[in-house]
Amino acid sequence: MLTSLGVKAMEISYKELDEISKIIYRTSGLYLQKRDKDKLLKYIEKKLAEGRFRSLEHFKKELEHSKSVLYEVFDVLTINETFFFRHKSHFNILEKEILPKLFKEKQSVKLWSAACSTGEEPYSMAITALEVMEKLKIKKTVRVIANDISQKVLKVAQEGVYGSYAIRFVPPDILKKYFIKQPDGKYKISPKVKSMVRFMHLSLTDEAGMKRIGNDIDVVFCRNVLIYFDIESRKKALSLIHYNMNKGAYLFLGPAESARGLIKGLKIVLFPGAIVYCKE
Ligand SMILES: C[S@@+](CC[C@H](N)C(=O)[O-])C[C@H]1O[C@@H](n2cnc3c(N)ncnc32)[C@H](O)[C@@H]1O
Repeated sequence: MLTSLGVKAMEISYKELDEISKIIYRTSGLYLQKRDKDKLLKYIEKKLAEGRFRSLEHFKKELEHSKSVLYEVFDVLTINETFFFRHKSHFNILEKEILPKLFKEKQSVKLWSAACSTGEEPYSMAITALEVMEKLKIKKTVRVIANDISQKVLKVAQEGVYGSYAIRFVPPDILKKYFIKQPDGKYKISPKVKSMVRFMHLSLTDEAGMKRIGNDIDVVFCRNVLIYFDIESRKKALSLIHYNMNKGAYLFLGPAESARGLIKGLKIVLFPGAIVYCKE
């Protein structure tokens, strides 16, 4: 037995915790490591102690049948670290190499922040596109699709108000141009940038749901999320992403992540400071 609850004196076995982890894995692709299971255990204990669930069986039933319980668990388990212009070399490549080429070829460009967390990544992509268009003195239609499995982070993303941590690498001229300083010192993303981004509550391993993204994506950022998946979920997410990409579209992963050997139909392109994948 792992532990016992103060209030309900409930004991949860490793086996039961494994069963619950499997339900979460099946629905999200999230592969729970030891530290995640500890977090999950604490959450279940707390909710049982508060009387939210009558028993562990009741919790498991709710987890399988009630989306709101499942979503609450996602909120507890996911790691949402992000900030504007994270991995600067990726944004340099987008700005200097990829967007100018795309703008030459097409009138309408679609970008995707897959696992967008609190919105800094898709807003950084939109700002980069606006900057490129201004520099080239051109007007194109740019849409940014952004999805995440956690409703909690998407709420923050929709609000688009950020503190000093999130904006610490935003150059002062960009801050002035695309953010509105709030009376409390925080920064709100400008309506122009916000209007370019559409947020969706969606798991990267949800086969039917991923079709809602549309299979006309030109650039995907799917960074710092596959590290939390096991091999099978990585393969699944990558193949659903690949399906949504146009031929010749680019895929950026986090520096600790790789698509090598996981799916076919992606070739590696070496840009200054980063490896990027391109759909064949
Ligand atoms: C560490 S953040 C990365 C945010 C951003 N991509 C970046 O690199 O700054 C990982 C995000 O992945 C999300 N996530 C985890 N599993 C997911 C899944 N199956 N589908 C969609 N998003 C998921 C989490 O909720 C979290 O917001």
